[in-house]
Order: sequence, then structure tokens, then C-alpha cells
Amino acid sequence: MHFKVARYDYPSQFTGIEASLLQEIRDLLNSGQYVLGQAVAKFERDFATYIETKHAVGVNSGTDALILALHALGVGPGDEVITVSNSFHATALAIVRIGAMPVLVDCKPETFLIDLEQVEQKISKRTKALIVVHLFGQSVDMAAAHDLARRNGLLVVEDCAQAIGALSSGKKVGSTSDAGCWSFAPAKNLAAAGDAGAITLNNPEVADRLRQMRHFGQSTQNEHRFTGYNSRLDTIQALVLRKKLARVDMWGARRARIASIYKERLDGLPLAFQSGAKPGEHAYHLFQVKTELRDDLLSHLRESGIDAVVRYPTPIHLQPAFVDLGYRYGDLPVAEALAEQTLCLPLHPAMTADQIDLVCNSVHSFFSD
Ligand SMILES: Cc1ncc(COP(=O)(O)O)c(C=O)c1O
Repeated sequence: MHFKVARYDYPSQFTGIEASLLQEIRDLLNSGQYVLGQAVAKFERDFATYIETKHAVGVNSGTDALILALHALGVGPGDEVITVSNSFHATALAIVRIGAMPVLVDCKPETFLIDLEQVEQKISKRTKALIVVHLFGQSVDMAAAHDLARRNGLLVVEDCAQAIGALSSGKKVGSTSDAGCWSFAPAKNLAAAGDAGAITLNNPEVADRLRQMRHFGQSTQNEHRFTGYNSRLDTIQALVLRKKLARVDMWGARRARIASIYKERLDGLPLAFQSGAKPGEHAYHLFQVKTELRDDLLSHLRESGIDAVVRYPTPIHLQPAFVDLGYRYGDLPVAEALAEQTLCLPLHPAMTADQIDLVCNSVHSFFSD
């Protein structure tokens, strides 16, 4: 189906950088240095500088960033990791994949983000780590998360997949915890032309372990200290990412501008927005609106040529993949209500004024009918 307002515009992200990027890719192809190498090292340096951490380690996806981070921090079988049910599947999948037990909590109805009071109630002797998710781009209050973690001796991992550039207590997300985990999948605000991810952190020993872990647990050629993974950031993707990183703040400002137009133009309608972010605390990866008429609004928008979509229609605790965890409908009511009542309006930096108008007018026409 062709939409008048699409959810993404990937090709537009290459305007102005395409020729120089293709030249770099050509040079790389001719160099034969296809695994790790300078291109990955340079992106890692630039990314660590951007996030304001000492280290960034490139891996092959956001999911692997979470898995390797937990593994390198020593989380494993017998441990519990507390996280939020209102997230993408990968957050909980990573915990299961390393043999630990996910303990899921609900989110706050205003922010749609993890409810730290519920985290506190779920801490047991086995709890080893907390994963917070800066969902849809809005940052979790990291000062509060760190305070809770310090009092209870927990590791803190941030799932930053959707929140590049967002601040929390004045610092970039992914810069203050044991690990910040990033996805650069094509739909993300900073996107590779395929799968890619990274971990940001300040501890040099854990960074070293991660560099070996992503590369078969290899310290030097043919010496394998432990059994790791094959999860290196692809070298061509590192070239793409490094070029795009220079533009991510410009794109972020455009996203924030569109979000503020949406909020202004849709004010007064029977809709709620994700709220609670101070200036700079939202990367506007996805723009959510909440209404009990969600399904009808979704059909109306899609019939009007607007590629609105639901993220996420089933919270993690109700997914068949996690049935063994024993959660039931009703256990985490805020996440369940959001799954039933929210949809995302298209939001990307290349949207035109006409497209923004069309979205706003279409939402208005739905409620006036
Ligand atoms: C919140 C969140 N966590 C983790 C991931 C996993 O990232 P990837 O698709 O790169 O494995 C994603 C995106 O897909 C995500 O949105």
C-alpha cells in the first residue's frame, strides 16, 4: 500500500552524504579489511565522544548489545533481572538468553516508562540487575534509577535503542550506567543500512571483555580466553553510521519540532500523550497518542493514507514466548491499557509541512465525526 504519509523515509537520510559514503565503501572494498578494522574503531571513538563515555563497543544488533552487556557484567543463571513489560521483545529476550530470570514490572501511566517504585518492591536476594528502557525516546529518571540501584547493590543497564541524544538529569542516556545498549536497526533515529548495535560504558575492563566477547572470546589471534560470540559491528555499517552520526542532532531537533506541532495542533482533543519529559529529555523516536477509540482512529488514519501503527499491541508479559513466566492479563494493567489504547503517528525528519497538516487534519476529522 502506498501511503501519503509514510512512517519512514530511509533514502532521504543519504542526501548530501551519498557520494562520499559510496567512496568510503569503495575504498573499503578495495582494502579487503572487511572485519572490524579502522572503520569500526573510528565509529566507536566518535560514538563514545557523542554519548560522553570512555568506551563504545560495536556489535551486530541492539539485541546482542543487551545480551553481551549482561553476560560481560556477570549476570547469568540463578540471577533475576528486573525490567519493564512495556518494551520491545528484545529487552526480556536478552535476559532469558543469558540464562537469567526476567522479573517484569509495570510502567507509569503518564510517562509510559518503568515504575521504579514497583522495581523496589520486586527486589529479592537473587536480583542482580535492573534494565531501564527509554521507551519511544523518552528518558527514564536515571538519578532515581541509580539511587535505587546503589541502595540495593544492583547493576544498571540502559536499553537506549530508541533514545539517542536524549538527556536524563542533564546527561546523555547511556552514559551513566554499567552499560548503555544501542540498536542502529534501520528504523532507529541513528540507523545503519541493516543490523548494527553498540554498548557504551566507562569501565575499561568490561569494555575489554566485551571486545573479546564479540570476537569469539579471542584476546589475540588463535587465543580464546572464553567462549564468546560472533557479534562484531559490520565494517560497512560502521562507515554508514559514522557519516550519519554527524547529523543525528539535526534530525533530533526536527523530530522534536514535529512532536511539538503535533501536541499543539491536537491539544483539546480527547487524546493523551506520553508526558513528563523536560526539554531535551525525549528523542521522539515514536510519537504516541492514547485514546479508547484507538482501533477506529487507526483505521481512519490508514484509510486516509497515513501510515499509523501500534507499538506495541501485546505487552511482553502476555506474549506466548514468555508464557512460562506465569503472568496473566490483569497483572500489569498500565502496560495492558497502553497496548490497547495507543498508536504512533508518523514522525520522521523528512516529513513535510503538508504531511504534518494531513496527519493533524485527519485526527481532527476523526473526532469531529
Ligand atoms: C527498545 C528496544 N530494545 C532492543 C531492540 C533490539 O534491537 P535490534 O533490532 O537492533 O536487535 C529494539 C529494536 O529493535 C528496541 O526498540
